[in-house]
Amino acid sequence: MNIEQLKKIAAEKATEEIREAMVVGLGTGSTVYYALLKIGEMVRDGLNIIGIPTSSSTEKIATEQGIPLSTVAAHPIIELTIDGADEVDAHLNLIKGGGAALVREKIIANASRRILIVVDESKVSRGLGTSFALPVEIVQFGWEATKRVVDQICGQSELRGGIQKPLITDNGNYILDCHFDEIPEPEKVELQLNNIPGVVENGIFVNRADKIIIGTPSGIRYLE
Ligand code: 5RP
Repeated sequence: MNIEQLKKIAAEKATEEIREAMVVGLGTGSTVYYALLKIGEMVRDGLNIIGIPTSSSTEKIATEQGIPLSTVAAHPIIELTIDGADEVDAHLNLIKGGGAALVREKIIANASRRILIVVDESKVSRGLGTSFALPVEIVQFGWEATKRVVDQICGQSELRGGIQKPLITDNGNYILDCHFDEIPEPEKVELQLNNIPGVVENGIFVNRADKIIIGTPSGIRYLE
């Protein structure tokens, strides 16, 4: 099986937990994409759900698939969220934000009763930060000053997209990708980074995922 097939089996497995009339958080990324396709199929077959998208890209795909959408303002309690991740550790801690949707993803995660994370096996890591740079969303104003303080924590960060053409998130902000050897205490670093003026949110998700659904060549594996 190639990596796309591993993403697909994980994503489709997660959709089996969707029930009639649920409010479902819809994550972002190339793995969740397969869940959106499957949910679209289920909706066309008569399933009645409301999806809460975590990004403009997911909103677009879900709309194309005919999935009815709403907002977290209208539905402050989300029964089930299906999202992806860039790195997962053995304690179900995550790095997210490779798709630049981390702020909305964390807001939706916070409103969710149950969170399923869908990944291929390459995302399983021996320690957060060892294989993926941590995304940190920062406001544009004074970003160089914010970066200097962020770098005191992570050592070195890069402005995503570069200075000439920085990536702008759905919220109108920049992303710094922060390189760690390993994030020693994820819970502490999550709070430290969010305490810096100019930082909006970072991609460390601690104690939020209920189940990791991993696509492997020999089938589905779970971390719970
Ligand atoms: C977006 C995310 C994604 O869930 C994460 O980047 C994984 O994406 P993919 O499934 O494409 O690897 O956090 O902000």
